[in-house]
Amino acid sequence: GEPEQQAQAQNMMRMHDHGGRVPAVRTGASVAPFSVAMPLPPVLAPVATLPGIDFYRLSIQPSTTEILPGVSTPVLTYGGQFTAPTIRVRQGRRALVTFDNKLGHEANVHLHGGRVPAASDGYPMDLIANGKSKTYDYPNNQAGATLWYHDHTHHMEAEHVYRGMHGFYLVEGTDEQQLGLPSGAYDVPILLRDALFDDQGGLVFDPADPYNRPTLMANGKSQPYFKVAARKYRLRLLNGSAHRIFELSLGNGAQMTQIATDCGLLPAPVPTNKLVLSSGERAEVVIDFGAYPLGTQVTLEDVSGPVLRFDVERRALDRSRVPDRLRAMVPLAAATQTRQLTLSLDPVNIQALINNQAFDPNRVDMQVRRGSSEVWEVTNSDTNVGGSGFGVPHNFHTHLAQFRILDRDGKAPLPGEAGWKDTVLIQPGETVRFQASFADYLGRYVYHCHMLEHSAIGMMGQMEIVS
Ligand code: C2O
Ligand code: CU
Repeated sequence: GEPEQQAQAQNMMRMHDHGGRVPAVRTGASVAPFSVAMPLPPVLAPVATLPGIDFYRLSIQPSTTEILPGVSTPVLTYGGQFTAPTIRVRQGRRALVTFDNKLGHEANVHLHGGRVPAASDGYPMDLIANGKSKTYDYPNNQAGATLWYHDHTHHMEAEHVYRGMHGFYLVEGTDEQQLGLPSGAYDVPILLRDALFDDQGGLVFDPADPYNRPTLMANGKSQPYFKVAARKYRLRLLNGSAHRIFELSLGNGAQMTQIATDCGLLPAPVPTNKLVLSSGERAEVVIDFGAYPLGTQVTLEDVSGPVLRFDVERRALDRSRVPDRLRAMVPLAAATQTRQLTLSLDPVNIQALINNQAFDPNRVDMQVRRGSSEVWEVTNSDTNVGGSGFGVPHNFHTHLAQFRILDRDGKAPLPGEAGWKDTVLIQPGETVRFQASFADYLGRYVYHCHMLEHSAIGMMGQMEIVS
């Protein structure tokens, strides 16, 4: 009946009425900020190596971790680590990664940003049963970039990622070493995300209220500090939240130098004092802490509060640089197709839709020619969900393809989002036009809203790549 529909609409609204801004309230344990160090996820060593190919092995398993100081939190992991081990590969060198599922139920692995054969893409219905293993084949025939891997089990992706099934996968480009960017210990991946805790320190997963996740973390610790040398750092920022939009800036208002987007280096560095990252997006920045006296503390702030504090505590030699030219943009091929996609929530049926349809694994939504280039116009029509007056942001992620944003509502993209991307934020009422180029594989791949509570209830479609 009508009151019921209204209640459901209101519930769905509750999901979104903060517009991505989360009140800085903390429920459960209260913790002083900056009381623990930010760890770096361990780099995974190959279990075997052949010419041109490395073999890796990871379990998928429950574990516990200490996110809040002194509190043990049950989590779901790759390799037993809440921020999964980092897989670091070189462009053109193939990796075979075997996952042993000991989770107690089915799960899988998607390499976000990876251009991989369909059988290794982590298609939402292509799952590893509990007790079974699967080997994913990652060719790494793509430019250097900050990728990540995470669960993609249909209907469970939001909860699995929220509970910890996320880690970095870094492809080092053959062009990168000569650039002289900060490297080694000065090249730091940082997984940003949020959570809500109960009084026992457990993670609360409420898909109907994903904006009530007030605890901000960096690499699995709540508001840590990170001791840095007074020199340049390359920071690889990933928004690994299931839903949150981060709006990041430095607490002292200083500029950061953005050098990369989702799919790798920009043509040229872009100075910026604000970075907006929706779920799944990456940005790489260089920050020069050499500009500060020892003892300086610089916070990285979300609009809702600080995420991380850099403590400048020692001197170090710095021969790194940020060259004026980073990576030439490969020109776009002529587009062969234009497609329109519209994203909308259906609060009455608690579904989320693309072109008015929820994901159906038995329905192919479009056929795309292998290796082609297409223009997609994606509209977020949720300006007034269920008549509530509230708009809902979405974002959009394509598997297999990389794209360049042509315009937002007819306006040119900001310089910091003008590189190759695989995920883009789309505000209520906005239309983003991008041109995608598809890698040379055949088969079925999905595209979806990467606010994973939305893909989990249907805001996902599939394309079949045909020859
Ligand atoms: Cu990061 Cu289809 O997802
Ligand atoms: Cu969405």
